[in-house]
Amino acid sequence: MAPIKIAIAGTGGIARVHIEALRTLSDQAAVVAVTDIDTARARAFGTEHRIAASYDTLDELLTQARPDLVHVCTPPGSHGSLALTCLAAGSSVLAEKPPALSLAEVDATARAQGEGGPWFATVFQHRFGSGARRLKRMITEGAVGRPLLALCHTTWFRGQEYFDVPWRGRWDTEGGGPTMGHGIHQMDLLTYLLGDWAEVSAVVRRQARQMQTEDLSLAHVTFASGAVASVVNSVLSPREESYLRFDFEKATVELTHLYGYRDENWKITPAPGLEAEIRPVWEAGEFGVASGHAAQFAAVLAALRERQPPPVTAEEALRSMRLVAAIYASAFLGRSVTPGDLGPQSPFYARMNGDGAPLDQLTVAAR
Ligand SMILES: NC(=O)c1ccc[n+]([C@@H]2O[C@H](COP(=O)([O-])OP(=O)(O)OC[C@H]3O[C@@H](n4cnc5c(N)ncnc54)[C@H](O)[C@@H]3O)[C@@H](O)[C@H]2O)c1
Repeated sequence: MAPIKIAIAGTGGIARVHIEALRTLSDQAAVVAVTDIDTARARAFGTEHRIAASYDTLDELLTQARPDLVHVCTPPGSHGSLALTCLAAGSSVLAEKPPALSLAEVDATARAQGEGGPWFATVFQHRFGSGARRLKRMITEGAVGRPLLALCHTTWFRGQEYFDVPWRGRWDTEGGGPTMGHGIHQMDLLTYLLGDWAEVSAVVRRQARQMQTEDLSLAHVTFASGAVASVVNSVLSPREESYLRFDFEKATVELTHLYGYRDENWKITPAPGLEAEIRPVWEAGEFGVASGHAAQFAAVLAALRERQPPPVTAEEALRSMRLVAAIYASAFLGRSVTPGDLGPQSPFYARMNGDGAPLDQLTVAAR
């Protein structure tokens, strides 16, 4: 079968991760073209990675290279508009996280998809390691019982210089702070495993960094299943960690890593007396796949070959984005929120900061 034709829009930091991951899939996909508003950067990237064509604009790229799939690797502010341009030209899109700046933008890209394609997908690479897939299967098959409690803690560290990059830490270009930009990875895995959420109560703070958005958030989330979760998103934590813990009726499952995991980052602790029931099921599951872009790209290419919507679909990405929006809405409104609070009439549908962040939520703490 002919390789899937891929183009990359935005040839900065994460585009390098994309090209490395795609190299491992070169029997299935060929990167045929790149573009960047920094045209010299696009050309240098193209030369370095032996890509046939570099275009000064996305429009030229789409009409001349006619890619099957465009990897959108630009800052978040342009994901929505670039995706709409690609979809209108008939090319599917795989956008870096976050899928766009607002629920409204993700909804618009979802509506621009065709029934048989083109499609809009988002990079949430932590769904695709074997550990996540093994646990998902055990949950679906009822092997671990009902989920009761979860912890979803993204405690990372970013110094002030990280936010000196012009698009970071601003509502209009990044759509939020660590809730939108960092913890969204872990929250996406949380919703992938536990499903729809029903209620969110949150606070956000700007404790230490000079920027427009929050630098930490805390939430408690109730899921439709009745499970409850504690969610923490921080860029102020010198001992960095990504930690997810799930207490099911029959076992505790933990994932401890930082920016990507392998099988050894997962740990299962069966409930007393259930070792002989649970351990063999866990050990009979899928192993050997690290989380990361290559694992997701393999799944995306497989879906496109089957003419199916590639993961993570617009609908699934919207669920994670709604959780992010709910954290901001709850914090800024000072009350718990439900999915009904985030419909098209809500200011939090149009912008992650709604009508604007109240100052008492986002005042740099006294130093
Ligand atoms: N999945 C992950 O683990 C992960 C990790 C890091 C970054 N990201 C995401 O990747 C995206 C890009 O981040 P980055 O660190 O590579 O940024 P970056 O600033 O290093 O690179 C972005 C590139 O896009 C170009 N660009 C900007 N606007 C453009 C436009 N309208 N058209 C074409 N090119 C344009 C810039 O010139 C730059 O070369 C962000 O959404 C970020 O959140 C994801």
